[in-house]
Amino acid sequence: MCGIVAYIGHREACPIILKGLHRLEYRGYDSAGVALLNGTLSVYKKKGKVNDLEKFIAGKDLHAQIGMGHTRWATHGEPNDVNAHPHYSTSERIAIIHNGIIENYASLKTHLQQQGHVFHSDTDTEVFVNLIEEIQSKNSCSLEEAVRLALHEVVGAYAIVVLSKDAPNQLIAARKGSPLVIGVGQNEFFLASDATPIIEYTNEVVYVNDYEIVVIRDGRLDIQSKEAVQQTPYIQKLELALDSIEKGGYEHFMLKEIFEQPRSILDSMRGRLELKSGHLNMAGARAYEQKFIHAQRIIIVACGTSWHAGLVAEYLLEDLARIPVEVEYASEFRYRNPVLSERDIVIAISQSGETADTLAAIELAKSKGATIFGICNVVGSSIARATDAGAYTHAGPEIGVASTKAFTAQVTVLTLLAMIVGSKRGTLTDTKLRELMVELDMIPSKVEKALQLDTEIKQISEIFKDASNFLYLGRGYNFPVALEGALKLKEISYIHAEGYPAAEMKHGPIALIDENMPVVVIATKDQSYEKVVSNIQEVKARKGRIIAVVTEGDEVIPKMAEFVIEVPATSDVLMPLVSVVPLQLLSYYIAVMRGCNVDQPRNLAKSVTVE
Ligand code: F6R
Repeated sequence: MCGIVAYIGHREACPIILKGLHRLEYRGYDSAGVALLNGTLSVYKKKGKVNDLEKFIAGKDLHAQIGMGHTRWATHGEPNDVNAHPHYSTSERIAIIHNGIIENYASLKTHLQQQGHVFHSDTDTEVFVNLIEEIQSKNSCSLEEAVRLALHEVVGAYAIVVLSKDAPNQLIAARKGSPLVIGVGQNEFFLASDATPIIEYTNEVVYVNDYEIVVIRDGRLDIQSKEAVQQTPYIQKLELALDSIEKGGYEHFMLKEIFEQPRSILDSMRGRLELKSGHLNMAGARAYEQKFIHAQRIIIVACGTSWHAGLVAEYLLEDLARIPVEVEYASEFRYRNPVLSERDIVIAISQSGETADTLAAIELAKSKGATIFGICNVVGSSIARATDAGAYTHAGPEIGVASTKAFTAQVTVLTLLAMIVGSKRGTLTDTKLRELMVELDMIPSKVEKALQLDTEIKQISEIFKDASNFLYLGRGYNFPVALEGALKLKEISYIHAEGYPAAEMKHGPIALIDENMPVVVIATKDQSYEKVVSNIQEVKARKGRIIAVVTEGDEVIPKMAEFVIEVPATSDVLMPLVSVVPLQLLSYYIAVMRGCNVDQPRNLAKSVTVE
């Protein structure tokens, strides 16, 4: 949700910033801008994508060794040239880029207007930079001090970078609630919302913590607390391959990521599932072993696709570990007054590790004494750092805004967790555990096989690409898959789609079914198979157009459904890892055929760092 990038060093800043903005574009893409400091402080910004900005600045004097850039996902103020970042202060001597939301901007703006500051945009960010200017002129203090004092006055979330014409060799940054990483090179520094713009230049990074202020001046990096106490930068080595953040011959990141799933599932199991020795390992779960054994309840908090992975986990943990589970939207949980005790474990699931609502839910749960277990994909992310223990998903960077491989990696890790906890609690017999381990080990190859359905799914997509609505139905472990299938379709193709537990159809959605309604039914052979077959009959009786995802060799459903997609058989428990794959492909192809931008769907951003 907004990407920020900055550079200070001996190279030309602008090309580094523009390349970085392209890498960060998945975080927001309604406008982009750069500020360059070279004696003068120049700001260039434009509504649209980074490509539009590049066209706009072509031919201008962009020479500078200090600069910053921003790609925006609008919160305050519509996407246009004026609301794009960077923002100047009234005197145009200071400029800022900002990711986050300043909640008390309205009262600050009124005050600043009374002091003579002039505003051009509708953004909260312009208030921030004018506040810095006001404080600096009133106190005749350094820029660094003015930023520090301003941070005491703003309420909300931010990652900011500030440049000033009067501080020609200096770059100041700060964070609270929005991510910020520093890349440490040889006499040069990079700043960004995540490590993807940095990795090309250095693998040494420092993750900035909340309430820290970063000052980079004369080749030196200083990190201080908001109270001006010096902090020691903790430099970490990043293990991120450059090719993992590039398209590698695929037309879109989303397609690449769908096809990466055999590998990302395997990576998420690596070192955790040891078939030969019959061991399951997960360091985070081991650290919490006693807590899991004695847990009275597990509460899962997440948003969107991660929430769907949480729903799969509800079935898994209740089934295998016999612990009651509740799955909560983080955004609702954080504003309730939930009843929590020390024997409750809260599992927070997040691909980005930066989702504001999930972070806030964690803080609330912590304050009530619950134990927090995090499942994140991005190493070093805010959620990974805010949780007591947890497990990384190892899906690799997910750039496509619609989550695919992160979902299957989350489900893989949650499956392992449920198996480990079930086995420790004695609710999962050794024989059943062994069976599941063998089956889980085969999942990457089964997903590989499901991916071979590609051409077939493309043909089905061609037939349904102009539909206005879709219904997705599933039961048991396939119910969350139905929700996920519907979410994938609506977010990238803009077709209205709803997911339902198949039996609930009779309680309302059945009224929508007619000969124009495509109904995707996930009807693999599991314990609710017979019941789903009856649900298919009900759809057929109303002339709905059935696309059924079935287990290979099914002889019943092909006689009823208009289209059948056969996936390899596996245990009920593991089926979501396989049955979701054709739904991801269906959404992808329909969206491409409708001419949609699948990697950057309208109004969405990859990392939702505002509530
Ligand atoms: C959908 C999607 C979103 C995210 C949600 C949570 O394809 O990607 O629904 O799942 O915004 O994001 P994370 O997992 O980063 O907390």
